[in-house]
Amino acid sequence: MAERVLVTGGAGFIGSHTCVELLAAGWDVAVIDDLSNSSREALRRVEELAGRGLRFVEGDVLDAAALDRAFGDGPCAAVIHFAAKKAVGESCADPLGYYRTNVGGTISLLGAMRRHGVRRLVFSSSATVYGDPAPEACPLAEDAPRLASNPYGQTKRFVEQMLRDLAASEAGWHILSLRYFNPAGAHPSGRIGEDPRGVPENLLPSAMQVAAGRLPELRVFGTDYPTRDGTAIRDYLHVVDVATGHLRALDHLSAVDGCAEYNLGAGRGVTVFEVIEAVRRASGREVPCVLESRRAGDAVAAWADPALAERELGWKAERDLDDICADAWRWQSENPAGYGT
Ligand SMILES: NC(=O)c1ccc[n+]([C@@H]2O[C@H](COP(=O)([O-])OP(=O)(O)OC[C@H]3O[C@@H](n4cnc5c(N)ncnc54)[C@H](O)[C@@H]3O)[C@@H](O)[C@H]2O)c1
Repeated sequence: MAERVLVTGGAGFIGSHTCVELLAAGWDVAVIDDLSNSSREALRRVEELAGRGLRFVEGDVLDAAALDRAFGDGPCAAVIHFAAKKAVGESCADPLGYYRTNVGGTISLLGAMRRHGVRRLVFSSSATVYGDPAPEACPLAEDAPRLASNPYGQTKRFVEQMLRDLAASEAGWHILSLRYFNPAGAHPSGRIGEDPRGVPENLLPSAMQVAAGRLPELRVFGTDYPTRDGTAIRDYLHVVDVATGHLRALDHLSAVDGCAEYNLGAGRGVTVFEVIEAVRRASGREVPCVLESRRAGDAVAAWADPALAERELGWKAERDLDDICADAWRWQSENPAGYGT
């Protein structure tokens, strides 16, 4: 019988791509999502792509009864915990909302895991735990200082610490935190992708919407950074690579006694202008830009040393920036209104 995995936030950007890969790899999948930043249509398309169904519970991870329904009666091998709020800017305006969902939601989930006798967890952490590193500190390995500089990053740092404390206090936990750098792109089928509510905060979806004419211009924050072209450097990672990272993480859980953290990054730093150029190549469209001053809280440069994940999880990013942009453009142009098409 196939093993079952519970995916919180499975209707979201990374969650939906991970569900496709899980179903394709033979896992039975249950999803709990409150659809606060996603739609039921994403999961319908996941099922269509995989040619198999999944179990869906619409509910909040803060709601113990909804979590109990999501776990159901049968055995559950592991949980992948994506459900969270993720906008840095919004987290500065509403820190308590972020602590409630991201930290409180994880405490609620861990309680439900205990009730259902499940001790295997893959947690979505983030490169924001590293804060604003000095450019010469890159590439960032897992032991780089964790100096998160905004409430969103702090929630990820606190949850990582909480998971460590839990695993130290109680034998039998197998927990892996994956620190994603900058997931981007879409499924190569063009059927699922990133569908942010409102105006996107991230560079790639914003640039795609400008290329598509859905937004008038792209705001570039900071052109006087000490980098090769003056713009900030990030490590963009294809979302399908992020998804396969979760499969490798599940395979590796038994080998983790307690807690471990891994970077998921491509290991290459790309500037904002280089991304814009790649979006132009992929779309064949202009991307009008407005150059603005630096945005508070933005790091100059952050890219990963992904060697540990390659060595211990057997995972590495297979797709490059042009793949990311080509797939993101297919998704954008075939679904101009996202899942609202
Ligand atoms: N996308 C990125 O750039 C990035 C980078 C690093 C880490 N992460 C982390 O990865 C995870 C997934 O990110 P994503 O980009 O897919 O975001 P997303 O917003 O697309 O997905 C999150 C999903 O969780 C759901 N959700 C939110 N609050 C919930 C709650 N209280 N109960 C149930 N469901 C809830 C949302 O409806 C959404 O479907 C998040 O934990 C995020 O912090 C994302």
